[in-house]
Amino acid sequence: MSIVEVKIELSKLGQAHLVSQLEKLQGSEYQDLESDILHLDLNLISELLAQVESNSSLNNSGEDLKSDSIRDEVAPHPFNSQAEQSSQSHAKWSELGQEALSEGKVGALLVAGGQGSRLGFDGPKGAYRFDLDSGASLFQLHAQRILNLGQRLGKELPWAIMTSPQNHDETIEHFEQHDYFGLSSDQIVFFQQGVLPAISQDGKIILASASRIQTAPDGNGGCFKAFHQSEVFHQWQKLGIEHLYIFSVDNCLVRPLDPRFIGFYLDNKKSSASTVVKKAYPAERVGIFALKNQLPTVIEYSELNDEQINATNSQGDLLYDGGNMAIHLIDMKILQEAATAPLAYHQAHKKISFWNGSELVHPSEPNAIKFEQFMFDIFPRCQSMALLEVERTEHFAPIKNAEGNDSPQSAKFLLLNLHKKWLAKALNINESNLDGQYEISPLLSYQGENLPSTLDEVKTTPLIFRS
Ligand code: UTP
Repeated sequence: MSIVEVKIELSKLGQAHLVSQLEKLQGSEYQDLESDILHLDLNLISELLAQVESNSSLNNSGEDLKSDSIRDEVAPHPFNSQAEQSSQSHAKWSELGQEALSEGKVGALLVAGGQGSRLGFDGPKGAYRFDLDSGASLFQLHAQRILNLGQRLGKELPWAIMTSPQNHDETIEHFEQHDYFGLSSDQIVFFQQGVLPAISQDGKIILASASRIQTAPDGNGGCFKAFHQSEVFHQWQKLGIEHLYIFSVDNCLVRPLDPRFIGFYLDNKKSSASTVVKKAYPAERVGIFALKNQLPTVIEYSELNDEQINATNSQGDLLYDGGNMAIHLIDMKILQEAATAPLAYHQAHKKISFWNGSELVHPSEPNAIKFEQFMFDIFPRCQSMALLEVERTEHFAPIKNAEGNDSPQSAKFLLLNLHKKWLAKALNINESNLDGQYEISPLLSYQGENLPSTLDEVKTTPLIFRS
């Protein structure tokens, strides 16, 4: 389409303000805005604007997901609970997982393209330090766990990191500045996710300056399309990598490439698997694994009614209790399909900077809508999946908010508690008899193994930080 045709289309879509802004510009400013305008996917934008108007979510065929949900048959998704697991099954899964890692069949995929607007940190969230004595950033914790595991297996474990155009350069800089935290630079590959224009609450595409359209990353579910389109996908296919181990940047206790979970997934022979934690309390705001019309999915806490939230089985256990931690394993073959038939777009109301005609304004309250794909929308396409319950205190401490629950303070508290528990076990003493706080470097221990058995050794081990 020529710029003249695009201008007509934009006006029809209620975006005449972009046309009049373009007409005010000259020289490089004109070219910049013209280029942004020509890059807009007008069909998709028209669908997204219609979605905002009807205030619902659309799938790729334009079907309204909200009205669908009224007819949906929803049931809890069963999961392999901790009570059902034994030390024998753990040992078997760990061995299977280690074998698959040693054979190079599994690659790690970190989704790190988010904007972390709730935390309010001005930079890639992975570069965020949350006041640990070691000074480690989230990226450092993830990197050194992968390094430790790889050293134990005698294998450089492959790691792909999804960034967004907004944080790509800074992310790479963080890794370069820290010498890739000891990993080899060949072992890590970075690829960028897509973006979509942000729009105001009244449906107008927002500007980031006089000559630029404001965009926002297209959600963590954008990882499938972006990964599939990137060079990495083809490189990994050639290397014989068959499965992706997906995890989020903000969980400071995540165990990337956890052999036990990989073994569980392989043992179950499904095309995807996730770890789950039980809810801390019935109304916890966490997505729950469920079966929707018999297909696996995650339903938002807001989609469950009070009856479902509190429903229990005959033993008094909550029925909807498999909390999503955003740790998934998926067969690479599924990506092919996800890349050709895009996932649904959901609306998120966020604080997004906007140009008001004379300057860039940074709002203190959500002012705009961005469109996001969610990772879990891939699960119905997997037909069936296996879920493994893990112990929350050992695997889950996300940093989402600036304070309160899921904040830097709560994450630090949970990490130090876990490390104290590990040490007390290694020392064979009660935790209450261990004074002070301890942080254990992932270079020393991936999951509580390899720790000193005497207090004297603890004091002289440089990879244990005591305060
Ligand atoms: P969140 O859903 O918490 O989003 O991301 P966020 O953007 O980091 O934070 P808020 O909502 O603005 O406060 C969960 C995981 O998904 C990644 C994040 O980096 C995090 O690892 N993510 C999120 C992406 O990679 N891309 C996105 O577009 C959104």
